[in-house]
Amino acid sequence: MVTTASKAQVIPDDQMLSIEQRLALTRRAMSALRVTQPKGVRRPPGPSRRKIVTSAVAGRIATLDFMGQMFSTKPISYARVGPENLYALSDPDLVWEVFAKLDGSTRRSMALQATRPILGNGILTSEEPEHRRNRTLVQPAFSPKRIATYGDQMVSATQRLSERWRDRVATGDTAILVSEEMSDLTLDIVGRTLFGADLTGDTEEISKALSEVLGRFGQMLSPVGILMMRLPTPARRRLVESVERLDAVVARMIAAKQAQLRAGDQLDDMLAVLIQARDPETGQGLSINELRDEVMTLVLAGHETTANALSWTWLELSRSRDAHAWVAQEWAEVGADRDLCIDDVAKLPRTRAVVAESMRLNPPAWIISRRLSEDITLAGYEIPKGSTLFASQYFMQRDPRFWVDAKAFFPQRWLNDAGDFDEKAPGQPRAAWFPFGFASRRCVGDRFALAEATLALAMLGRSWDVVATAPRDVIAVPAITLRPGNGIPARLRPRFAN
Ligand code: HEM
Repeated sequence: MVTTASKAQVIPDDQMLSIEQRLALTRRAMSALRVTQPKGVRRPPGPSRRKIVTSAVAGRIATLDFMGQMFSTKPISYARVGPENLYALSDPDLVWEVFAKLDGSTRRSMALQATRPILGNGILTSEEPEHRRNRTLVQPAFSPKRIATYGDQMVSATQRLSERWRDRVATGDTAILVSEEMSDLTLDIVGRTLFGADLTGDTEEISKALSEVLGRFGQMLSPVGILMMRLPTPARRRLVESVERLDAVVARMIAAKQAQLRAGDQLDDMLAVLIQARDPETGQGLSINELRDEVMTLVLAGHETTANALSWTWLELSRSRDAHAWVAQEWAEVGADRDLCIDDVAKLPRTRAVVAESMRLNPPAWIISRRLSEDITLAGYEIPKGSTLFASQYFMQRDPRFWVDAKAFFPQRWLNDAGDFDEKAPGQPRAAWFPFGFASRRCVGDRFALAEATLALAMLGRSWDVVATAPRDVIAVPAITLRPGNGIPARLRPRFAN
């Protein structure tokens, strides 16, 4: 258990690292990861050499086409791409073995390491034992009690969006890009729950700097992106400048929050909780640098994922009017004569089922990977340390071996006989459903994201029909998250008296 100090104690007084220092640390961390693999190892079958080379040259390795070949119905497949030895796991037992059972003895992937100049050494990128300590300090900010206190921000941000839509429709402008709208909403929610509503003056600046960093974040994950960070290109300069700007705002936020806490103010935003968190063994809190890294991690991990979950859900409801009618019945009944609040989330099993079904077919985190820190034997193959093992939510959660009518959007599958939402109701094997990952690395924000998505969908859904203009044309683009390719052009139609 983490103890939180009643008054803000003095945080270890270190300086925030500069992005140049983080870049140097990243380079060092990444070169330490290079492992020479033994020769003559027997490998599982996989895509042909020609397919690998043409895909790599075209920059098409992280695509649904190439990865679809890797995640075939074979339990395990192999591809060597450049210096990387990649293994894709399509069998739930193997996925469980590596991602849940071997949890502590696997490491973060090269791609995640490459994000360190932005994310630093927060809980997404850090390795054990630092990860465990950081997670102990961050986790309390996501307890059910804390999430209940963030509910007001979720509700008011959704109301603000609905008001913007009302103003827009009043002028006759009903066209929206769903992804943009959902992205604004989740950025508003994560920004305000993290920093508190009282810092309104800074919100716009944070939003601007964040959008710049978010826009460039994806580029970091490609080999070209990593190379770009070594060269003095204009793109590198722009990224460095936006990260510096964001760092400056976050440093100011931390200082202001610490001053408020010292003055005895009662604050319930996430940053205040993080500042007051103390390691139960050492009594130490997070340093300024660590706070910065966690803040950046939470914004980047929590914003686009939830925005995509919501965007895909609107698309699926546009595609399936039966499912829309089914969930709209719940929206008409729950809290019909009042505003919704966080306590209503438990009363919205159909909405929760619609979100789950959308995340099954279009998982925002579509693939996860681990690097082996020791040799293992898996499915009869010796897999040397340094290899990267993948599991894909996208392929596993659409696999007809584990899901009845796998490609159909059928949210009813998630309700049990009593009509309650139940993750086990579809009867899938335990590692065929992992939208939030596994074990010690399971998403720390899962409850937050589900509360946010359920509330936002029900609140907006009972006032608005969001009708995609060409729902069949939207394709899935696998970037860091699984994005709807064209942003989902849609029309807003008011429902009931709006
Ligand atoms: C629908 C929305 C979301 C999805 C699908 C999602 C998915 C995931 C997945 C799959 C992982 C594990 C990655 C791995 O194993 O390598 C993860 C980790 C993480 N997520 Fe989420 N996430 C969502 C929302 C959020 C939110 C709202 C926050 C915070 C505000 C958040 C913060 C994090 C953090 C900090 C980690 C790293 C945990 C660790 O390594 O200890 N996520 N997320």
